[in-house]
Amino acid sequence: MRKKLLLGNWKMNKTPAEAKAFALSASEMVEYAVAHNIDVGVAPTFVCLQTVKENINPKCIVSAQNCNEHDHGAYTGEVSIPMLKAVGIDWVILGHSERREYNGETSKACNAKIKALLANEMTPVYCCGESLETFEAGKTKEFVEEQIKTGLADLTKEDAEKVVIAYEPIWAIGTGKSASKEIAEDTIAFIRGVLREMFGEVAEKIRILYGGSVKPVNVAEYMSAPDIDGALVGGASLEPDSFKALIEGIANSK
Ligand code: 13P
Repeated sequence: MRKKLLLGNWKMNKTPAEAKAFALSASEMVEYAVAHNIDVGVAPTFVCLQTVKENINPKCIVSAQNCNEHDHGAYTGEVSIPMLKAVGIDWVILGHSERREYNGETSKACNAKIKALLANEMTPVYCCGESLETFEAGKTKEFVEEQIKTGLADLTKEDAEKVVIAYEPIWAIGTGKSASKEIAEDTIAFIRGVLREMFGEVAEKIRILYGGSVKPVNVAEYMSAPDIDGALVGGASLEPDSFKALIEGIANSK
């Protein structure tokens, strides 16, 4: 049985003071999640990682939203894995569609970052998902398959087991137009099939999240789908009350 995971992607939101206030208010909801066997985490911006890590319930995962695969050097504007580790961070989101669109992040670049994270015993959350155009052309599966095969190329089974995947159809992100449970489950079950082809039975242990306009009102529905192991949430993860309602929704979906 895969443990459910709720990860809040704060994107480019919150000052350090705002992030700290969230962290300080989150203790009880994190305990509630733990008591209901749910992993819970937040992904602040780089400048907020340290304050969130220092002020949030230690049972809460704190994830970065990106990293560089090199340890140090002439990479202006980048942040390395040892730097993240130095402030206690061991999870990193990679390949988010916004980074693919605005920062030219490719599946191949994600592959190098995923390998570097795994070599450092950290957890990559690898995002995939298609545009509206691809969805409407009926090409979702072949598109996502390529992202998974390239992003996770050459991983051992042992390493693949440690990766978390997030399926986020771009047309559902921040639009209020969430994918139906059936669409999300169908694509996520397909992704698990791709993982099975690549890594065998280990695929049954890999958590695959859904993301895209997940809200307190619809989270339980997604969680009732057999292959959906959690949610990667943007907008609805920003306020403590809403984040708490998401955790409660997952707890009550069981
Ligand atoms: P929203 O929940 O705001 O649609 O964002 C989803 C997302 O991109 C999470 O990574």
